[in-house]
Amino acid sequence: MQKILVLDFGGQYNQLIARRVRDNGVYAEILPYTAPIDEIKSNGYSGIIFTGGPNSVFDLSSPHYSRSILELGIPVLGICYGCQLIAWMTGGEVKTAPVSEYGKIELNLRADSKLFKGIPEKSVVWMSHTDYIAAVPEGFEITATTDNCPCAAMENEEKGVYAVQFHPEVTHSQFGKELLHNFLYEICGCAGDWQMDSFIDRTVAELKEQIGDKKVVLGLSGGVDSSVAAGLLSRAVGNQLTCVFVDHGLMRKDEGDFVEKTFTSMFEMNFVRVNCQGHFLKKLRGVTDPEEKRKIVGTEFYNVFWEQIRKENATGFFAQGTIYPDRIESGKGAGTGQSVIKTHHNKVEMPKSVKFDGIIEPLKDLFKDEVRAVGEKLGIPRELVWRQPFPGPGLSVRILGEITAEKIRLVQDADAVLRDEMDKCGYAENLSQFFAVLPDAKSVGVMGDHRTYEDIIILRAVTTDNFMTADWARIPYEILERVSSRITNEVRGINRVVYDITSKPPATVEYE
Ligand code: XMP
Repeated sequence: MQKILVLDFGGQYNQLIARRVRDNGVYAEILPYTAPIDEIKSNGYSGIIFTGGPNSVFDLSSPHYSRSILELGIPVLGICYGCQLIAWMTGGEVKTAPVSEYGKIELNLRADSKLFKGIPEKSVVWMSHTDYIAAVPEGFEITATTDNCPCAAMENEEKGVYAVQFHPEVTHSQFGKELLHNFLYEICGCAGDWQMDSFIDRTVAELKEQIGDKKVVLGLSGGVDSSVAAGLLSRAVGNQLTCVFVDHGLMRKDEGDFVEKTFTSMFEMNFVRVNCQGHFLKKLRGVTDPEEKRKIVGTEFYNVFWEQIRKENATGFFAQGTIYPDRIESGKGAGTGQSVIKTHHNKVEMPKSVKFDGIIEPLKDLFKDEVRAVGEKLGIPRELVWRQPFPGPGLSVRILGEITAEKIRLVQDADAVLRDEMDKCGYAENLSQFFAVLPDAKSVGVMGDHRTYEDIIILRAVTTDNFMTADWARIPYEILERVSSRITNEVRGINRVVYDITSKPPATVEYE
């Protein structure tokens, strides 16, 4: 399989570049700028992309790379900081402009270039830079300019080195997709062999080979990643797979049953559901501090899960749904020589007392959208494949104050009404995440001639690209009205519904 290297110099769009390359049917992987040249040489890349980054190339403490990377005979494309870096490495002049060039800017093509094949002479690109190339290095030709940027693109075709000051990876760049396509197919000679169908066939074959006649155990949470990992493993080894599903009772309404039904009816595997709602309620009794609640759910989950694994006498391999973004070493933190592999809150660490022959991570090279594509191809229901993020501690962070069985019922029922209405009118597609929250608060209401004193439900709905920041969703009033009226009518114990109109920051998406 052909591979493109995305060499990370610390910019914010690095994963996006890799995803865009893969959208073009070519596999891309990200390495930090500290990756040794020998590693790059031996990996057999068809092309290399230098990413953007926040630094100035003439600052010696900024990320740099040995010039020999341009002499490997592998085509290189530099983007933004990567573009300036190429100029700096090869004897050009980079200067700081008095004002930054930022936003959508008109690009004018100045010369014929394979990189711009099929792209009109004038188009709009996304710029975000203050430093610029004041003099191009020897052997390079300027291929594009803007009103403020004397070198918006340059190349040395003979050496296969190309550089663009703008960001082709963001959708604001009108022909960015075509530009990346040209780099991959016209310049690097890629064939487009990264397709999800062939990924499934190849991975299933590899899993069969690796597992042989041994057993595999997987912790299934009902989230996207573990569900798709379960689907792949089941296709590879069927009943040699045991999925352990810990139902702590803090999931959305009927979710545990749905997960069980899906995996027992659609996939060949041993499915073990550990029903421990009572155990969790007992451990959470009287606890009101948010951090304490999170800690208890985390610890008990871990205890119950590994206890079950011991009971199963599980042998062979341990599988988990780690995905590519969980593993990427960022250019920002690089240089320490240590890999900064993220441990996701929901992944279960292995106690020392448990011994397996090895760990299997069938999704470790995939981005989330690729995981979803694989899930759909495996026939996993849309409800699981397109599931919204759900916190590891479950509803315990959406019930403020002490958790009781009655409060779980209230929040689950209200949440089910909200989801039902959103799905029915199709508005769910506009939202990144939405759910109901039960604050620790009652209010006075009236029903017929009676005064009531009952619980409040908060509705939370956000739109966001990355969950680091989020905006509250402008859901039409008519939909909110239907949801409110159904919740107060159908969920016994709720007499008031309010809508959260706070963005993140200053609030967070969840409440605890
Ligand atoms: P916050 O509340 O921090 O949430 O704005 C951002 C996103 O992260 C999700 N979230 C979690 N996901 N384990 C998870 O896997 C957790 O403990 C957790 N806490 C918050 C939240 O649902 C939102 O999508």
